[in-house]
Amino acid sequence: MGEMNKPRRLRRNPAVRNLFSETTISPRKLVVPLFIVPREKEAIELPSMPGIRRYTPSQITEVMDRHIELGLKAFLLFGTPERKDRLGRSSANVKGVVPTALRLARKRFQDEVVLMADVCLCGYAEHGHCGVPDEAGHILNEASLPLLADAAVTYAQAGADIVAPSDMMDGRVKAIRDALDESFPEVGILSYAAKYASAYYGPFRDAVGSAPAFGDRKTYQMDPRNSREAIREIIQDEKEGADAVMVKPALAYLDVISAVRRETTLPLAAYNVSGEYSMVKAAAAAGCIDEGRVVAENLTAIFRAGADIVVSYHAKEALEKGWIP
Ligand code: PBG
Ligand code: ZN
Repeated sequence: MGEMNKPRRLRRNPAVRNLFSETTISPRKLVVPLFIVPREKEAIELPSMPGIRRYTPSQITEVMDRHIELGLKAFLLFGTPERKDRLGRSSANVKGVVPTALRLARKRFQDEVVLMADVCLCGYAEHGHCGVPDEAGHILNEASLPLLADAAVTYAQAGADIVAPSDMMDGRVKAIRDALDESFPEVGILSYAAKYASAYYGPFRDAVGSAPAFGDRKTYQMDPRNSREAIREIIQDEKEGADAVMVKPALAYLDVISAVRRETTLPLAAYNVSGEYSMVKAAAAAGCIDEGRVVAENLTAIFRAGADIVVSYHAKEALEKGWIP
């Protein structure tokens, strides 16, 4: 029986298990989403996302300070404007909340932090779609591209290291790359390349008030039934100049993360989205699960599937409470 493999030898105690563990989660690989709003009174805890608040630009450096102490140095910023219009033009307002927060954070932290800005129209347009609709409500692809590129350039100018287009219009990575190359060739693009039309974005849409006023996002976001199509999206965005790609959501799409990991050499991010967060919070509040262990298991699963970087609302609390194995 000497040759019999006994896997339990490598599970004897925590020290042995740690040595032989195949997945390590580091705060360096976690990205913290932050919601920026114009007014103090909106900076309250979100009812659908317990523990998550929105902040005004002037609060943001203090908020980042608390994260930096925990080793969290990468942030993904989302904004809500003062006023929304049909074209979502305020997404490119240099005085908007995201550019203002970027400037303040860059000034205060310089190269100590990685600042990323989500690029999309939905949070800035009255109709809540990620592109521009025509009279019939169809989302126009080409007409949306210059608007997205303008927003990306605005964030680059304000100090973003990386812009992250989440709109899913075709050709937007190229449009943004071309626009950035004129003045900001050093700014990177993290493309939400395989972004699914998912019900898991519900709480996020409450947070930024971006639920579509009509129709749904299925003509531009991906069909959850498809995974080969994710590979096509990744290859396309890579050709257009993406520096890194993202799969979103994460937990219901671990197979996609794993498949994409094998197809691209680009850094791969996964977004542990709002609905995934809220479900854990609700189950924990109801006493159904051990929150810390479930969060650790979920984050581990996303990294194990092949993500290099994970965007998660759990990041700060998980580090504060020592949940990360
Ligand atoms: C905007 C955007 C969304 C998310 C990130 N960027 C929502 C959507 O497409 O409806 C989702 C994030 C989350 O649910 O945490 N395009
Ligand atoms: Zn959008």
